[in-house]
Order: sequence, then structure tokens, then C-alpha cells
Amino acid sequence: MRKGLFITFEGGEGTGKTTQINRLAQALTQTGHKVITTREPGGTPEAEAIRDMVVQRDAGTWTPLAEVLLFFAARLELVSKIIKPALDDTKIVICDRFSDSTVAYQGYGHGVDLETIKQLSTLTLDGFKPDITIILDIDPKEGLERSDRRLAAEQFQVKQREDRYEQLDIEFHKRLRQGFLDIAAKEPERCHVIDATQDIDAISGQVADIVSKAVGATD
Ligand SMILES: Nc1ncnc2c1ncn2[C@@H]1O[C@H](COP(=O)(O)OP(=O)(O)OP(=O)(O)O)[C@@H](O)[C@H]1O
Ligand SMILES: [Mg+2]
Repeated sequence: MRKGLFITFEGGEGTGKTTQINRLAQALTQTGHKVITTREPGGTPEAEAIRDMVVQRDAGTWTPLAEVLLFFAARLELVSKIIKPALDDTKIVICDRFSDSTVAYQGYGHGVDLETIKQLSTLTLDGFKPDITIILDIDPKEGLERSDRRLAAEQFQVKQREDRYEQLDIEFHKRLRQGFLDIAAKEPERCHVIDATQDIDAISGQVADIVSKAVGATD
């Protein structure tokens, strides 16, 4: 039986996932929990190599289904080498994106058959799912503007924008927002949609409420 807690954050670009993950990890650590944070695709050297193949700006254009296969390969690495061992060790694992992003981006966004994605998920992960998924929901235009502002502020530091998904058009982003909302409607026990237009403190308060109920249940 799983002993830790697996929490994922989902939503489009600039919805505040990283901001909220950092806050939650800090709050849980301060209350004495063992926490690890990780991201998708990535989290192991092998999975980071796949990340470079699919997410970098010069990554080319993959056939959507081929991209799904790469994501599940990276996910299997992360789950088997990092996430499951940490959960067995009673840790709280917080992951920046997981399978729901594949459903939203490649399924709703790029039109890969949703049943195919489900079958691949069953094949590779054997039903492994997060205990809690926080979906940060915002109008895509506002989310993309936030991302742009952040990238503009960071521009000294480097580099090209890594995330080529941010380059895709607004219609695509509207479809993936709908994808996340459909996922949440299908799995209301696991998924919690939070209005990401609220201020950072209001959102982190709601996240803390959701997580504390589940943490209480496992203590
Ligand atoms: N609730 C909020 N209100 C206003 N600005 C916010 C809020 N949450 C985050 N931001 C700001 O918006 C930008 C994007 O936030 P963040 O990087 O956390 O989003 P993200 O979902 O991780 O984005 P990405 O998908 O690009 O990784 C940052 O500059 C952050 O400071
Ligand atoms: Mg982020």
C-alpha cells in the first residue's frame, strides 16, 4: 500500500504552478513532512534527456502520438525511480505536471485519441495516479501574459524560452484549458480546480486546505 502522498499541479502556462509548488513544499517541510518536488517531463537524467528532445525550442515537430510515447517513457522513468520509492519512504511527492498534461496538450490540444492515451497510461503506469491534483485555471491570454512578463524579467540570465508550447496559438490554449476542466469533471475526488486569477496568498491558502485534509488522513 502507498504510504506517502502524491500531489500534482496542472494547468496551462503561467497559471502559477511553480509558485504554488514552492510555497506548498516549504509549508509542508516546515510542519515536519518529508517532501520532494519534481517536474515533468524530467526528474531523472534519462527523463531529462527526453525533456531536451521534446520541450526545447529547437526540438522540432514531433508527430503527436510519438510525442505521447516519449512523455510516457519519461514518466515511467520518473515514477519507477523517483516517485514510487519516495512514496514507499512515506514522503510527500509534489510533481509539476503529470499524465493530465498529456491528455490536455496532446489529446485536447493536438487531437491524439483520448482512448489511446488512456491505454498507453494503463500499459506504462498500470493505473498509478496522483492522490491529489490541483488544477490552476485561468483565461489563457492572462496566463500567457504572466509567462511573458516572467520571461522578460529573466532575460539576462540566459537563454531562449525553453517551453515551445508557449508559442502555440490561443485557440490551442483554450482547448487545453477545456481539457483540464473536463478531466476535473470526470474525477472530482482527485482533481481540485482553483481560480488562478486570485492572488498568490489566496490560492496557496486553498491549496493548503485541500492538502491538509489528505495529510491528516494519512497521519
Ligand atoms: N496568483 C498570481 N497572481 C499574479 N501573478 C502570479 C500569480 N501566481 C504566479 N504569478 C506570476 O506569474 C508568473 C508565472 O508563474 P509561475 O512560473 O508560477 O507559473 P507556471 O504555471 O509555473 O508557469 P510555466 O507553465 O511557464 O512553468 C510568475 O512571474 C509569477 O510570479
Ligand atoms: Mg513553471
